[in-house]
Amino acid sequence: MITLTRATLTGDELDSLVEICLSQPEYWRSSGDQDPASMSRATLEPTLREDAEADGCETLVGRDGTGRVLGFVQMLLRHPTDGHPWIGLLLVDGRQGRQGYGKAIVTGVEDRFRAEGATAIRLGVLVANAEATPFWEALGYRQIDLRPDRAKGRPTRVMEKLL
Ligand SMILES: CC(C)(COP(=O)(O)OP(=O)(O)OC[C@H]1O[C@@H](n2cnc3c(N)ncnc32)[C@H](O)[C@@H]1OP(=O)(O)O)[C@@H](O)C(=O)NCCC(=O)NCCS
Repeated sequence: MITLTRATLTGDELDSLVEICLSQPEYWRSSGDQDPASMSRATLEPTLREDAEADGCETLVGRDGTGRVLGFVQMLLRHPTDGHPWIGLLLVDGRQGRQGYGKAIVTGVEDRFRAEGATAIRLGVLVANAEATPFWEALGYRQIDLRPDRAKGRPTRVMEKLL
């Protein structure tokens, strides 16, 4: 059972989010958003804060029954063009992979948006992130477009799941 709560980005929770980022060097290498060789709390904290505090965005933290942080998900609540909620980044603790935690966090996000009346969820997966596409496909997401991302022009699959 996973619970999702809004990120506070303070104390132990922030420590856990930084550790989780550090546990996924391959993700940062493939995205180019951080240099795995030099990334640290000092480089990660401002990015986490910026993404959580941006207008219309929200970061949720996933915890197990003991309160241990397993991962987090960054979301855009309503895309300005298509009106759908978008998942920006889902990151699961690399030491706890393939135990269903990513799926459980996404299911919680889907339940929340479905309850709020959303009809679909979308997200962008960098083509360079080869491992993420089969994950999203296993959860029922389908590619609806292939285009450069707005941030850096990286080839990106736009995926969608109808709720
Ligand atoms: C992608 C990620 C979120 C998956 O989280 P996870 O907790 O390991 O995934 P789950 O255990 O919930 O996997 C659910 C199903 O997805 C599929 N799946 C997950 N990872 C996969 C992989 N590397 N290759 C193929 N299929 C995969 C499987 O069908 C899996 O079910 P199974 O283990 O019973 O076969 C995690 O690896 C991660 O944080 N990666 C780095 C960041 C990232 O790429 N995020 C997504 C881009 S936004």
